[in-house]
Amino acid sequence: MANTILVGAQWGDEGKGKIIDFLTEKAEIVVRSQGGNNAGHTVIVGGTKYVLHLIPSGILRPGTKCVIGNGVVLDPVAVAGEIEGLRAKGISVTPENLMVSDAAHLVLPYHRKLDEAREIARGSGKIGTTKRGIGPAYGDKIARVGLRVADLLQPAVLSEKLAARISENNALLATYGIEGLDFQTVLKEVSAAAELLRPFVANTVVYLHEAVRNKKEILFEGAQGTFLDIDHGTYPYVTSSNTTAGGACTGSGVPPHRIDRVLGVIKAYTTRVGEGPFPTEDEPLSDMLHGMGREFGSTTGRARRCGWFDAVAVRYAGMINGIDDLAVTNLDGLDSLDSIRVCTHYKLNGQLLETPPMDYVQLAACEPVYTELPGWKTPTEDIREWDRLPDNARSYLLKIAELSGAKLVIASVGPNREQTILL
Ligand code: IMP
Repeated sequence: MANTILVGAQWGDEGKGKIIDFLTEKAEIVVRSQGGNNAGHTVIVGGTKYVLHLIPSGILRPGTKCVIGNGVVLDPVAVAGEIEGLRAKGISVTPENLMVSDAAHLVLPYHRKLDEAREIARGSGKIGTTKRGIGPAYGDKIARVGLRVADLLQPAVLSEKLAARISENNALLATYGIEGLDFQTVLKEVSAAAELLRPFVANTVVYLHEAVRNKKEILFEGAQGTFLDIDHGTYPYVTSSNTTAGGACTGSGVPPHRIDRVLGVIKAYTTRVGEGPFPTEDEPLSDMLHGMGREFGSTTGRARRCGWFDAVAVRYAGMINGIDDLAVTNLDGLDSLDSIRVCTHYKLNGQLLETPPMDYVQLAACEPVYTELPGWKTPTEDIREWDRLPDNARSYLLKIAELSGAKLVIASVGPNREQTILL
């Protein structure tokens, strides 16, 4: 496996965690480069379910090194809790297998409070955030008033910066009628997490450059998905980081020409959580999938909105990310259908569109144009080989890959490691 960036090519929740876990068998290093604990990767190994939010999925493979890069926003209390949770399940988490960038920005309690306050203030125009403080933390980073992991390790610096930030944010929270935070309480909580994190902190850029020089195989695991990207997504119904391939380079300090391959992960249909336009959304399909117990968020438990496969969106994701190969997950979710719709174009004001409009009002006005493919009406969850898949399932997979403009390399028929078909 060459140095690979793995991205979600839809609206997040494409099943990236499982594909990453599968690929980490070959990767020596797994890097998270953007987002925070708004992400939720579910991985099932040997019947045990692990939900990872910030720590790369590689942590479940002995011998794999995990790196939380500079582009991540890290809630120190949440990540300390995640480390302890993994240890309680018998997973070893030590500086040998986890490294945290000293330049990553912190998510602090006032970010979470502000995230919630702004969502309430937006009323019906809310984004539907995970309320993990992600937007306000990235906002502080860009406004150059953020605290970073390096600050955590210097008690006097931490105390001084935190006091100033809490004072300013308490005034801001008061404008929303929300009670402020007590400096001493926050300092105590954050300082305790800092001590747990201290041994993991390093300059990860230097580590990764050394790894590249030594030809180690690196997997960059994307969080969220292309259409939640702050620049290329359905703004403002997006998250606050660059979820597309370029974000892996800025968020890790590894230059673009050291990347060999971009792998896009897609579901065999489409889902999105939170608000915002979603052209192929379909209520009966949502009801069917929810009725099967599928499509509930791993971070917030919210029911995801579901729709047909949208080739217009995935084609565009291919352009932005430079997707070479495709992994299709959740094929088994469609097993019972007689026929399956695939969106090939959008129609807007009488015109056929090959690519999505960037403005969310226009995107919301787009009507999907569908082609209909026959279903396979056969359970696929126990199939492990391409040749054993029903003909119609193979045709469906090849068709969505062709419409997306990339090569199909993996099909996934269930959440377990073994339920994976390689082409
Ligand atoms: P935030 O990232 O919490 O600010 O949320 C902004 C938008 O991104 C909301 O629509 C969330 O539902 C969505 N979002 C954030 N993280 C994920 C994820 O891991 N999967 C799917 N959607 C996400």
